[in-house]
Amino acid sequence: MPRIAVVPGSFDPVTLGHLDVIGRAASIFDEVHVVVTHNPDKQAFLPVPERDSLIERSIEEARISGEIRIANWSMGLLVDYCQQVGAEVLVKGIRSSTDLSYETPMSIVNRNLGGIETIFMLPNPENAHVSSSLVRQVSELGGDISPYVPRAVATFLQSR
Ligand code: PNS
Repeated sequence: MPRIAVVPGSFDPVTLGHLDVIGRAASIFDEVHVVVTHNPDKQAFLPVPERDSLIERSIEEARISGEIRIANWSMGLLVDYCQQVGAEVLVKGIRSSTDLSYETPMSIVNRNLGGIETIFMLPNPENAHVSSSLVRQVSELGGDISPYVPRAVATFLQSR
């Protein structure tokens, strides 16, 4: 049985921090599903198909090898997706104590709901301050986002 991990998130847009986590997960697990979820608490910046396409192009650009799938999940619990595809583990990046406080209850609930474990990865130091919300803000105000995102994302956002 292949060991499948799910890397979930809004990826709105995908950043170098996300890409680091995806690449490291791909080096550990047989298969990685990057699952773009709809978070009702957040207003969308990019439509989901554009987020999917940017993730795909960024993975290609970074030459991350391994069995990686990009999926969307907007209806229902993430643990339902995990059970549907046979994934046992969620992988998430933790940049700060704020992230840990946000992720801890979700991790416990996901284990209680579906027996799904969460593995937390610390970021590379150069990505520790990078977030999609920071990228959105800098991009909307006309700043240079290229240090924070894959080239495909920088090019796409600069051309909007
Ligand atoms: O990138 P984000 O927005 O911080 O990701 C948060 C996400 C999508 C991982 C979280 O909102 C989530 O798990 N949503 C799926 C819905 C779900 O299963 N909720 C119960 C988890 S406790």
